[in-house]
Amino acid sequence: METAALLELDRALVWHPFTQARTAPAPVAIRSASGALLVDGEGREILDLISSWWVTLHGHAHPAIARAIGEQAGRLEQVIFAGCTHEPAVALCQRLAGILPGGLRRCFFSDNGSTAVEVALKLALQAWRNLGEPGRARFLAFEGGYHGDTVGAMSAGASSGFFEAWRGLLFPVDVLPVPATWLGDERTEAREAAALDALDRHLERHGAGTAAAILEPLLQGAGGMRMHRPGFLRGVVARLRARGILVILDEVLTGFGRTGRHFASLEAGVAPDLLCLSKGLTGGALPMSLTVASEALHAAFLGEGIDRAFLHGHSFTANPLGCAAALASLDLLLDPACALARARIERRHRAWLGRLAAAFPAVLRPRVQGTVAAFEVAAPDPGCGSDLNARMKRFFLARGLLIRPLGGTVYLLPPYCVTDAQLDRAYAGIAEGLERGFAE
Ligand SMILES: Cc1ncc(COP(=O)(O)O)c(C=O)c1O
Repeated sequence: METAALLELDRALVWHPFTQARTAPAPVAIRSASGALLVDGEGREILDLISSWWVTLHGHAHPAIARAIGEQAGRLEQVIFAGCTHEPAVALCQRLAGILPGGLRRCFFSDNGSTAVEVALKLALQAWRNLGEPGRARFLAFEGGYHGDTVGAMSAGASSGFFEAWRGLLFPVDVLPVPATWLGDERTEAREAAALDALDRHLERHGAGTAAAILEPLLQGAGGMRMHRPGFLRGVVARLRARGILVILDEVLTGFGRTGRHFASLEAGVAPDLLCLSKGLTGGALPMSLTVASEALHAAFLGEGIDRAFLHGHSFTANPLGCAAALASLDLLLDPACALARARIERRHRAWLGRLAAAFPAVLRPRVQGTVAAFEVAAPDPGCGSDLNARMKRFFLARGLLIRPLGGTVYLLPPYCVTDAQLDRAYAGIAEGLERGFAE
């Protein structure tokens, strides 16, 4: 189909996510992709610096992952997972058990990051009910956290500010501060101490009634690529543990190497009771997610009656194609070359951010966590629907760079196959934008 015809049909028939259809530019029609490059209808290459919404781990259309999906599709494409099981699912759980933090290994499958979070919240609440403590029903979350777009996930992430239209639907969640920090931030310790102090005071009053706390370890993504230090995370987890509160770590974004180690939890040396994984789980090839629970939590659901069981499931639970993709992606992740690539990306980020911060006063709060780099552009109105945000997206796309700033926060979160030359091209585009105020 010609690109013009495709776009006309798209305009008539398709409803795009997070898009104001009246004012948004026409979407880019992508025909194919390979490595870090997307190719549009005219054959133009666009460098994917956001891993297509943070999912693509090893590059697009990776031959090993494509092969694994193809072979699995010819054997078993889907089967109900209540009352049935299959080798790709069991093999995936077995492989993950070898690398997950804190010996976590009891895997509950669902379809995306939001459902992984819904499952975690529901499991936490029911666990206390099953244990005869239904009074533990409060949830605790952290300022600027984002956990997805379903109702429970929105409730936990309400402070991200995306959910005004549905405020009436959301259940109350206690929200505590996070000391977001950056390179050269001199007040980190003071803000960490203040945040831990606020948590102590909150737990003093509500600790005994709190079922679980949920947070994104080390990197709050959609809330603005805000980063905190491993020591703060350790402090939070220790305080929650001391009160018997279940710890849910949402590693939907950070999982599978984004922050350096295989999981951000490992970076901080903490182990949750429930771990949410998605996005990079299948290397970004297919939608699938996991909520991984401790054995102790799983034990709370065992008994003679069905009422103690977790009565929750999705049509495509543990889809064999997704499992096959995840296994192939794990092979790539565990290859030592992948860790070297991630370390190389981090070095490039650090070198470039230092240069940009020194050259442009508009670069605020530069920060790096593993393969993710971010900074804010000084502006009077850096919001999501702002003119600056629209100009930056246009400016980058015109240079063949897929970079989608969050408000005024520019970030790079590339697939691990991105080359140094490609990163240099991206940063050169950013420098040019800063030079010109992102005006064409
Ligand atoms: C930390 C985190 N949790 C949950 C989600 C929701 O995932 P999904 O969009 O797959 O529902 C996201 C999505 O960006 C995320 O970054």
